[in-house]
Amino acid sequence: MSPSNISVIAIDGPSASGKGTVAQRVAETLGFHYLDSGALYRLLGLAAGKYGIALDEEVRLAELVGRIDIRFEGEDIWLDSIKVGDELRTEEAGAAASKVAALPLVRAALLDKQRDFCRAPGLVADGRDMASVVFPGAELKIFLTASAEVRAERRYKQLIGKGMGANIAALLQDIQARDERDMQRSVAPLQQAPGAILLDTTALNVEQAVSEVLLHYRAKK
Ligand code: C5P
Repeated sequence: MSPSNISVIAIDGPSASGKGTVAQRVAETLGFHYLDSGALYRLLGLAAGKYGIALDEEVRLAELVGRIDIRFEGEDIWLDSIKVGDELRTEEAGAAASKVAALPLVRAALLDKQRDFCRAPGLVADGRDMASVVFPGAELKIFLTASAEVRAERRYKQLIGKGMGANIAALLQDIQARDERDMQRSVAPLQQAPGAILLDTTALNVEQAVSEVLLHYRAKK
């Protein structure tokens, strides 16, 4: 469990909702640490490919979690001493992440790695089950979402901005398929946790969404 005297803001929500950007900005504003839990699932998907483990080999994947070395340094992410680049953000890496994330042993194996991020003065944790499973005692719980169409558009701009190819219709399909898998899985499904505040950002820009989260956080103080 996370130490109860450390402030945790849990921000959960579906793929490409913008919660990563919002969570990072909130963390910067408050001087808090930031956990990108989706990156852990994405890294495991990449590591599985590297070690020749299929994405449904639950026991081997859970063991792999204990063996791989993952380091976050600012914007940089390292897997077994090798810096991971944009391959982590591809749709393939997202799809692989969503497959390994459906496996209960994998989720259990990643729990401590996620809780290790909870350090003073505080943490903003972004994912799907931050409020429900990983940090159930979080001081503030936000469920951040947007329409699938707006999310596809945001992901499109993000990929194009990175110089990657993208097709908006394919992205929309991919997002809907991933939502479906994330919501239907039996373990830690994507859902608004009890006590979480719904923040629909369909019509909000990043600054407005960040302000909303900060307002809710300050209201708790
Ligand atoms: O947030 P991101 O798109 O990087 O997450 C990739 C995938 O990892 C999600 O589609 C989801 O299946 C999984 N995930 C999860 N629990 C988390 C974070 C991500 O199951 N806390």
